[in-house]
Amino acid sequence: MDMQISGKVALITGGSRGIGRATAAGLVGEGCHVAIAARGQEELDSAAKYLSALGGGRVLTIAADMLDPASPERLVAACMAEYGRLDIVVANAGGSVGARDFATATHDDWAQTFQLNVLHAVDLLRQAIPALAASDAASAIFIASISGRAATTAAASYAAAKAGLIHAARSLAWELGPMGIRVNALSPGSTLFDGGGWDRTKHSKPEAFSEFERMDFPRGRLSTVQEIADAAVFLASPRAMGLNATDLQVDGGQRRPSIR
Ligand SMILES: NC(=O)c1ccc[n+]([C@@H]2O[C@H](COP(=O)([O-])OP(=O)(O)OC[C@H]3O[C@@H](n4cnc5c(N)ncnc54)[C@H](OP(=O)(O)O)[C@@H]3O)[C@@H](O)[C@H]2O)c1
Repeated sequence: MDMQISGKVALITGGSRGIGRATAAGLVGEGCHVAIAARGQEELDSAAKYLSALGGGRVLTIAADMLDPASPERLVAACMAEYGRLDIVVANAGGSVGARDFATATHDDWAQTFQLNVLHAVDLLRQAIPALAASDAASAIFIASISGRAATTAAASYAAAKAGLIHAARSLAWELGPMGIRVNALSPGSTLFDGGGWDRTKHSKPEAFSEFERMDFPRGRLSTVQEIADAAVFLASPRAMGLNATDLQVDGGQRRPSIR
């Protein structure tokens, strides 16, 4: 299937590893030019080398911290300066900041978690509106989580932020729809990749991890970044024109974060 995004430009936050890098790879494979942002320049350089070797579109790296409210404006400006257009925005950087346990977590921990997961995404989309409105393939994707859809004991701040992100996508799709901009959330389930959070758990608690795989997943394993990226590339493309104001759950059937 021709995804109809060859020559388009995509900006991906958290694009140096995991789901973000795999999504960037999928987009480059379809002929998109990409800008990837993250804090660490070394990992960005290594991702850029990997993406460039795929032989699709061009790759721009931008070192930026999404906890800094000034970053979204800088990212969109850098992207426009390099490519002169922007068609696809993937707000992927996320996670919990500070203490995860509610009794210990501070107001600032919650505020930072909301900055990283919600505010960076909506600020990025706001900054991108003029460019997206000029595109014939405008799509914004907020990478959320199944933790935003059901209760979890993992980190209430993260779960609440992802729930807010999902709801923001649904509402913004209505506001930006008249400009031809689709807005969707994509909620991965637990996703395993080398060096990622679940990879660390796999090695530090092998027995508990095996039990988790057996009990929580119909196929007996976590999702892969390739599986999430394939869905993200489709959602980003005009082939998914029928998907708008939705939250695409890509979790291999896991359905809810584990409570234990
Ligand atoms: N993996 C899972 O099981 C899973 C499940 C559900 C949802 N998700 C969501 O999927 C997204 C990606 O997670 P992941 O597990 O693939 O990768 P990850 O290990 O969380 O890293 C994601 C990327 O974000 C960047 N990043 C982290 N903090 C940042 C900050 N403050 N400013 C800018 N960039 C930042 C990282 O680079 P630097 O550290 O160099 O900045 C990296 O490129 C997140 O939103 C996460 O909540 C993941």
